Amino acid sequence: MVMGVPSKPLLQTLMGQTSTIPPIWIMRQAGRYLPEYRKLRAESSSFVDFCLNPKTASEATLQPLRRFDLDAAIIFADILLIPFAMERDVRFVAGEGPKMRPLKPGQSLLKMERAWSLDKLSAVGDALARVQSALADKVALIGFAGAPWTVATYMIEGGGSKDKWRSRLWAWQNPDEFDRLLDILVEASIDYLHMQAKAGAEVLKLFESWAEGLPEPFFERFIIRPAKNIVAGLRERGVYLPIIGFPRGCGGLAVRYANETGITALALDQAQDGVWFSQNLPKETVLQGNLDPAVLRVGGAALQSEVDRVKKNFSGRAHIFNLGHGITPDTPIEHVERLVQLVKETR
Ligand code: CP3
Repeated sequence: MVMGVPSKPLLQTLMGQTSTIPPIWIMRQAGRYLPEYRKLRAESSSFVDFCLNPKTASEATLQPLRRFDLDAAIIFADILLIPFAMERDVRFVAGEGPKMRPLKPGQSLLKMERAWSLDKLSAVGDALARVQSALADKVALIGFAGAPWTVATYMIEGGGSKDKWRSRLWAWQNPDEFDRLLDILVEASIDYLHMQAKAGAEVLKLFESWAEGLPEPFFERFIIRPAKNIVAGLRERGVYLPIIGFPRGCGGLAVRYANETGITALALDQAQDGVWFSQNLPKETVLQGNLDPAVLRVGGAALQSEVDRVKKNFSGRAHIFNLGHGITPDTPIEHVERLVQLVKETR
């Protein structure tokens, strides 16, 4: 090995190196489609407790790595731990997903800002350190945070929602206050990701899972600007790790996201055309994605031809193989095994 060149395939790709066999990891690779996860999860009553216990969080992170030949581990945590550490009453209701009391305009943002304490999330750092010491040499460790707009929508809607209606009302009625809310989340995200970098993360990812449906004039203000400020804030604090951005559902606006935020890699969802992005983004931008999670669920010949198509779409580029969104709980384990084999085969 040449000094200074990482031996981990994911890190090599993030440095812009191309390869006929792309590194692979799977969004939401730890979770309910794994029986060992369901068993471990049943031993903790609350999901937040599960995430903030370094023992269970590190074990859940490592579970998929024991089964599949993946190139990355992603720390087991959740994008809603930041609102939790701002003393919002985050709970996870079985079968319904995350819930909390909706944040209202005019409600004291200052209170939220003052409540923020990184100490409440120090367990995530402990879990990262544990995972780092247990990982195989070639596997890279990913830390993450939710991007501000996405996290804000959960806080304002009080949970998941289809159209983010209350968030859009707030954004139009009081954009300056909305900026302030996002700025508070930007600062907390910088603290949190900086801590994860110090604890052993080698790559960072920003999940902007709800970049879809935001009115176009707000894309720059509420999606690009916060991501750019997070990247700049991390660099100012001496964190030079590669950063993957995932502005899910924003179509062609992802070109601006990639060019203006300073991220290292752009993660594409399944609706985005890999060939078009390969042609329209500078070579320095690494691409990740973008197999449809539904074809992984289906398996068989459809899975094989889609894996081939996705690989071909990005050929000649630095590409990280992944899904266009998270793996679903009903996905058979054999399909994941087959996926990893297909990606690693040279045919
Ligand atoms: O391997 C991994 O990726 C595990 C770590 C992880 C979780 N959530 C664990 C989790 C990561 C990276 C996340 C990110 C996350 N959380 C996102 C962004 C990624 C995406 O899918 O868009 C979002 C939007 C959330 C918010 C969230 N957390 C929702 C909407 C839900 C309920 C619905 C669902 O997908 O399960 C959660 C709960 C959650 N987070 C679970 C897991 C494994 C399931 C809860 C359980 O096991 O009891």
